[in-house]
Amino acid sequence: MSLSASVHLRRCFARNKTFVRCINSSSSDTHRKTTSFGFQTVPEDAKESMVKSVFDSVASKYDLMNDAMSMGVHRLWKDQFVGDLKPGRRGPMRCIDVAGGTGDIALRILDFAREKYADRETSVEVVDINDQMLKEGFRRFKQTMYHNTPQISFHEANAQSLPAEQFPDNSYDLYTIAFGIRNVTSIPAVLEEAYRVLKPGATFACLEFSRVDNPLLGTLYDQYSFHIIPLLGTILTGDRASYQYLVESIRKFPSQPDFARMIRDAGFVTGKDIDGGAWTNLWGGVACVHTGVKV
Ligand SMILES: C[S@@+](CC[C@H](N)C(=O)[O-])C[C@H]1O[C@@H](n2cnc3c(N)ncnc32)[C@H](O)[C@@H]1O
Repeated sequence: MSLSASVHLRRCFARNKTFVRCINSSSSDTHRKTTSFGFQTVPEDAKESMVKSVFDSVASKYDLMNDAMSMGVHRLWKDQFVGDLKPGRRGPMRCIDVAGGTGDIALRILDFAREKYADRETSVEVVDINDQMLKEGFRRFKQTMYHNTPQISFHEANAQSLPAEQFPDNSYDLYTIAFGIRNVTSIPAVLEEAYRVLKPGATFACLEFSRVDNPLLGTLYDQYSFHIIPLLGTILTGDRASYQYLVESIRKFPSQPDFARMIRDAGFVTGKDIDGGAWTNLWGGVACVHTGVKV
């Protein structure tokens, strides 16, 4: 499926200056529900376009910045995330990678299934709210053997309300979301949709930044996050604000047990509330994998 067929191109929201205007214009409105946008409190109905502005702004440099900010470590986490899910082990799977951005997880799923199980039928539908991120992903997949095959497609949609005609109930074997769920306005709405689209017995898997349990590691991580990452953002992309938001949004994300509870509240079954049970910490909780199974 071509990008132009599957992505409904919408007018891009203005660049990162827009969200400053959003906050100012709505600060006098005390009746609107609010949510966090990094460390700021903003009207719930403004967050989505503000997040979209961030990713519009970073899309063209997203992969470069990911490598620079994490010194390549995000690749190891993503490899482990996908490797542990073993896509293709029990035969071809229909996968949906939500907030899939430039397709990092999708590519790993397809490579893993092919390399380990000679599976060329597993497919991934990459879903993202941001057409700029999807375009980068599409461009990247053009260099791969999956381009122009039924194994990959890109779709612009909101994780909180996947259109049912395009993403029907009980239709996927695996739902992945990596470094995406902390950006959404309503985590419960995303989890509810994940539950709806998965087949009974299928797996929800989330890779996200999380809470570090070791105080020393926590202090080092804070120093790095709040000083080095925005600086790298400024140097490599000229955009400090977006990277400041990305760092702040990590700190606002629920702790491992709180997020595990939300996954169960959506109907999934998880392991026990311990590392190695409902979740698996990576690098002491800098990142974390949560899984749940639809019953
Ligand atoms: C940090 S990127 C992660 C991209 C990719 N999953 C990865 O691991 O490299 C977060 C992505 O979430 C997307 N996103 C944010 N809110 C979303 C929503 N409500 N629905 C779908 N995608 C969303 C952004 O557009 C962005 O592409």
